[in-house]
Formats: sequence, C-alpha cells, structure tokens
Amino acid sequence: MSTPSPHIAFPSGHLHIGRVDAHRIAAAAGTPVFAYSADEIRDRFNQLHSAFRELSPLLCYALKACGNLHVCRLLASLGAGMDVVSGGELERAWLSGAPMSRVTFAGVGKTEEEIAAALDGRHSPLLNRFPGHDPSTRGPVGRFNAESEQECERIARIAADLRVRASASLRVNPDVDAKTHKYTTTGKKENKFGVDIARARSIFERFRDHPNLHLRGIHIHLGSPIASPAPYVEATHAALALIDDLHTRSITIEELNLGGGFGIDYGRATPASLADFGTALVPLLRDRVARGLRILLEPGRPIVGNAGVLLTRVQYIKHGRTKKFVIVDSGMHQLVRPALYEAYHFAWPARVDPAHIPVNMAESQPLAGLEPCDIVGPICESSDFLATDRALPPVAQGDLIAIFSAGAYGMSMASTYNDHPRPAEVLVDGDSMLLIRPRQHIAELVAPELSDPSPLA
Ligand code: LLP
Repeated sequence: MSTPSPHIAFPSGHLHIGRVDAHRIAAAAGTPVFAYSADEIRDRFNQLHSAFRELSPLLCYALKACGNLHVCRLLASLGAGMDVVSGGELERAWLSGAPMSRVTFAGVGKTEEEIAAALDGRHSPLLNRFPGHDPSTRGPVGRFNAESEQECERIARIAADLRVRASASLRVNPDVDAKTHKYTTTGKKENKFGVDIARARSIFERFRDHPNLHLRGIHIHLGSPIASPAPYVEATHAALALIDDLHTRSITIEELNLGGGFGIDYGRATPASLADFGTALVPLLRDRVARGLRILLEPGRPIVGNAGVLLTRVQYIKHGRTKKFVIVDSGMHQLVRPALYEAYHFAWPARVDPAHIPVNMAESQPLAGLEPCDIVGPICESSDFLATDRALPPVAQGDLIAIFSAGAYGMSMASTYNDHPRPAEVLVDGDSMLLIRPRQHIAELVAPELSDPSPLA
C-alpha cells in the first residue's frame, strides 16, 4: 500500500507500525490505543529540517498536536524547540528537556500565573511536586508570542515584578485566507488571533526600549492544515513589509515566526509537500536571514500526524437498512476530528487477506468484495463516528481496525466523555514497542469526587 509513511504499512496483509504487528500492540496494551512510529517522527522532523535548511530555522514543535512527554523528548533530542500554548504545555516542554530558550509561549489567553511560570521557574505549579524535577532554576522562555496590547502590558508588568526583561514577538493578523476549515482558520481579520498590521506598528512604537519587555519579533500563524504555500507567501510578504516599515522607525525585528499549519496527506487530497513549502518560502527569506533575521516555525501535525494510528476493536456489527455499522471501542471522545471538522481519516482492518491490502488511503479502493460501512463509537451522540460511508473488507466482532493519520490532535484532544478512560499510548521504535502512557483507569476518573465536599471559604 502506498501510505504517506513508509513506517506504517501492510506487509502480507498485516498492518505493521515499524517492525511490530499492530495485533501485538493491541494484545500487549489493549484497545483503544494510539501507536506512534518513532522512525516516522524522526524522518518528518528531518524532512522539515532539509526543506528549510538554508534558513537554519528554529523548529519549535507545536506540542498541542501530541504532547506525550516521550514524543516531546524524542523531538527535543533531535534539536527541536517547543511551541506551547498554556501553563500545562509549558511544563511539558520543560520536562521534555528542550532548553527554555528554545520555547515559544503562544496562546490568546495567558493568565498571570502562566506568564510568571514562563519567566521564573519558582512560579512553576510543579515546584516541589516531582523529586528530581526542580523547575526553580530554569531560565525564562525564549519568547512569548503576544496576542494583544493588553497582553504586552501584562507581560511587562509581571516581568518588572520579577525583575527580568521578557522577550516577545507580536502576533500579527495579516488577514490572509488559509483556505482551511472555518474552525481552524486563524489569520483572517474576523478571527480572534493577533493584531492587525496598523495596530502592530503602534504597539511596537509604544514598547520600544521598554525596560521589561523586549518586543523583538513578529509571529504569524494562519491556520491548520494548509494545503498550499500560497497563503504563507502572501503573509510573509506582509510581514517583511512591516519589518521594513518598522526599520524606518528604527525598530529592529530580530525574529520572524511563520507559525505552523503545513498540511499532511490524509488520503483524500494531496497537499504540497514539506519540500514544496520550503521551495516557496526560502527564496523570500534567504537574504533577510543573511542580514541577521532569525526564522522560527511551529510545526505540529506535519511531524506527528502521519506517524500515529488509533487501534480500536470491533465490539458489534449491526446491519442498518442501507449499510453496516461497525461499532468499535473508540470514538469521537478519543478522535474528535471527524465529528468536529468533518475530517477524513482512512480506516481499514488491521489484518486482511492479501487481496484486500489497500492501494492507498483514499475512500474508494479498486478492490472487490468490499461492503459499505460506518465505523462508529460507543458515545451517545450521532456525531460519534470515526469514518462514514466507507467500503471495507469483511469485518467481524473482535477484529482490530486501524484509524490512520491519528498522530496529531488525537490523544491531545481526547476527553473522558461518557466516563471512558483515555487510551494507552505506545511508541514503536524499530522492533521494540514502548508503553509511553498507560491506559487511564476508571478509578482516576472518579477519585477526585470520592472525598466529602469541602466547603469553600
Ligand atoms: N502555532 C500556532 C500558533 C497554532 O495555533 C498551531 C495550531 C500550530 C502552531 C501548529 O499547527 P500544525 O503544524 O499542527 O498544523 N485541532 C485541529 C488543529 C488545530 C490547530 C491549532 N493550532 C485539527 O485537528 O485539525
């Protein structure tokens, strides 16, 4: 089968992640389980690196895509920085071992506590929590991606209290249409993100030479997933024009962060490759880099998206009037993308006879003997589907189904709705499979409510 990942394939009809049969993973970890290929993660990180090599960018992994610490550690060991959007993600980035100077702290609603923890580890909520992990001596984050004037004021005030000078980029909203789902478009003027260019200019002027806030960069993130380089090219031109304009006002921009959002191949339409994104953007930026501008990127999905599958077991088969319902032990609570964005994920039984090896990840396969099916979960909502109107080989109760390209925004968006514990996570490296997060236990769901209610003062 041709998949976007050479590390996730069907040799002789048995799905393998790396060199491990998916059935071995399911037998050892149970289902549902997210399984990731370490080699695919490495390859994708290296592909990004090569695509933008000429710019020597700082690649900050957007850990919202898949925040498992072991995945983050793998990436940190390859030299990735981290892009975080909350106090929780900040702690993950620190625990991943990435230097704090390589961390960007984005997000529209940073609280005072989160800002303080990002500037001074003595304000970390993990202080004195885990022996061997002492945040108190860590340095401040490399930069905030500030989203508003009020946020700049707040960062500057907290930095003054802590007697430090915070570093920040200002997120600019270039009003560029990324042509992605309306819920994941962020760079249009009607979106809540960033500030428009005219306002950005006045904010840079206001904070020029501020003793506690070094506003030294521009940040843009247009949305996700984006299929073509065109919106990035348009936004980059706008950012460079702003940089030049600020230069005439004696304000120097040291960093330009183009955000994340490069699309991946889910099987329905083929987006531009990472190399294509590089080819379009590098020529616009190479001279600037030579003159000292530093480029940052915040990729999440392109690194982990195709590296993960969700393995789920068939509980029941039910024959509706027009199609077969394959009822599995996972659903919208563990992979919300189909329900939330009408996203397409290729789905296929993890063991098929050789005549039913899929040729690619498209909805329709040129194979005989397939049946129309919906793959649905146990949740009491009609939006609880993982795949609708698919033609699948025969599947029976107890079979294992793989949902592909589930490495990004799968586990990280999973909830415990209907009181289902979160799935296990497994990292496959060559022929070893590592449990990187055990399945949550129902006891963990109920424990916080078992003690007597405590009266609030
Ligand atoms: N930087 C910023 C400021 C972001 O908001 C995001 C994603 C990224 C970087 C990383 O984007 P990536 O390279 O992963 O595409 N839950 C949605 C995607 C939401 C993306 C949110 N922001 C989905 O499942 O499609």
